[in-house]
Amino acid sequence: MIAQHLLDQIQDRSDIVEVIQRVVPLKRAGRGFTAPCPFHSEKTPSFVVSADKQIFHCFGCGVGGNVFSFVMKYEKLTFPEAVRQLAQSAGILLEEDEEFRKREDSRQPVYNAVAAAAEFFRMELGKTPTDAPIQKYIAKRRLTDEALSKFKIGYSPDAWDSLLKKLAKDHGTETLLRAGLLLERDGKTGYYDRFRNRMMFPITDLKGRVIGFGARVLDDSQPKYLNSPETEIYHKGRVLYGFYEGIEAIRRENRALIVEGYMDVIGCHAAGVEIATAASGTSLTTDQIRALKRFTSNITVLFDADKAGEAATLRGLDLLVEENCNVQVASLAEGHDPDSFVKEFGAEKFREQLDAAQPLFDYKYQFLTRRHDPRKVEGKSQIAAEMLATIRRIPNEITKDGYLAELSRRLGIAEDALRVELKKSASTPRAIELSQDDRKMPDAASVPVSVIEKLLIGLLITDSKLWGKSRGRFEDGDFVSEDARLVAGMVLQAQDWTEVQPARMLSVLHDRENLSLLVLQAVHQAEIVEDSSKAFEDCLKQLDEARGKDRLKRLRDAIAACEKANDIDGRNILLRELNETSRKGKPNGTEVQIKS
Ligand code: UTP
Ligand code: MN
Repeated sequence: MIAQHLLDQIQDRSDIVEVIQRVVPLKRAGRGFTAPCPFHSEKTPSFVVSADKQIFHCFGCGVGGNVFSFVMKYEKLTFPEAVRQLAQSAGILLEEDEEFRKREDSRQPVYNAVAAAAEFFRMELGKTPTDAPIQKYIAKRRLTDEALSKFKIGYSPDAWDSLLKKLAKDHGTETLLRAGLLLERDGKTGYYDRFRNRMMFPITDLKGRVIGFGARVLDDSQPKYLNSPETEIYHKGRVLYGFYEGIEAIRRENRALIVEGYMDVIGCHAAGVEIATAASGTSLTTDQIRALKRFTSNITVLFDADKAGEAATLRGLDLLVEENCNVQVASLAEGHDPDSFVKEFGAEKFREQLDAAQPLFDYKYQFLTRRHDPRKVEGKSQIAAEMLATIRRIPNEITKDGYLAELSRRLGIAEDALRVELKKSASTPRAIELSQDDRKMPDAASVPVSVIEKLLIGLLITDSKLWGKSRGRFEDGDFVSEDARLVAGMVLQAQDWTEVQPARMLSVLHDRENLSLLVLQAVHQAEIVEDSSKAFEDCLKQLDEARGKDRLKRLRDAIAACEKANDIDGRNILLRELNETSRKGKPNGTEVQIKS
């Protein structure tokens, strides 16, 4: 975590125009600058940089953000990496940097030990005679020399202490233990090698440093794979096997392929499909997805034939949906995994399977219709429930809406009914966040952020006078959509307007993709109104009205729910509230003028 005051300081000293100009030729246009977008190919420039707001935005592909987001996207860095880079060029010393360096320094011996181990396993493999079991196994799995050297595959000898003997003198048993290479002897003092008589797969980080190992037996004994334990340098949930080796291809093709195992990654790469990568020893985690997303959000998942038939496997993909990935699913028939498929049918047939990948929505729908009869009521509801579990995770409201409509069409179920079910399946944490008086009502989380709410937020963060005027006139609770409420809360609780300027908001919200997008859209809305003071007043009126309407609707829903549950007292309380509310809310037809 880098302290917000440091982020502010770095942002203040890193002019976005200057930073972008170093890599993209900008042309002055009005108060800002334009260029052809560096993030998608285009002829007419739709990429704009605003000097006074310190943000950029592409109207073609929709990317946008502040100076940190630009460096992250352009240089494919994580947020802390981008911050560090900008701090460096602005001449700001980060205490975190110091800490980071100290930590890296203390880890260096562990890195060295693991690198030495990888080297040792390579050497040992080289020493084995052609009739040794490992060599026979390599021949059986048809691993080429090229694959062996690309993935630095090695062999841990069939002995208790060969690595220990070789590396203890230079690295010390303490460090070898920290590196996860040794185990402590039961009851006695001393250590022995963790990996023995196994084919060794070094796991690398994105800098190409070996951080741990996967180790496979040479026969059918169990466990088939041993993995390095969690160490200070190896965190299973954060790395992907084959990612470093595939990074260039993933960048080039703007797509990644997720397969299940070490051998699958190697088999794919050998067949020329270098975008293949795998979670090793865990199921896919959010950290891994975020790592991939720095390079691409187009993800194809390739299941082993047996796994494709498990609903649980499909559910695992919802994590990708939640992270805003564009997910395709491919599967292999007849008991194959990618490695065995390539070996039996060749690279070309394998690529055909990948080309036949379907969007997750379609794949899942078809999968479900094979299990449940979509013509029967029971079947429809089973299918709907499973599909909604995925749909509700889509962060983008418009996309979500599109899928709901599609599901409604396919199943022949009214969209309203699906929406009611969607709300029911909403997670509990959300319900807890709801304020007291919302408790009995369906939550407003699924109402899209209206143009008015965005515009109002946009006006407040781009115009200090309006922000000043907003005090006491309304509160974040007046916003209907949950996202808008969160952002409005930040804006209205700020002590000073400089805290809520667009670039600063984006810096505070850097790990909240949806909220950042909302801020950008809000700024855009505010930019296209003609008279901002008038727009501000109009917004307040409409907000009031929308809130009234929303409240009425939610009250009516809640009353219907009480009636269904035979809760007469509840119904009466709500009815009284409904009467009062509708008396207060008088419609008002003001329209905001938008520049065309
Ligand atoms: P698989 O059993 O599909 O292995 O497990 P594989 O990679 O295809 O290997 P081959 O082709 O049978 O030789 C998939 C992944 O699950 C993890 C490993 O990461 C493996 O690559 N796994 C499997 C373990 O961590 N431990 C095990 O005992 C088995
Ligand atoms: Mn497999």
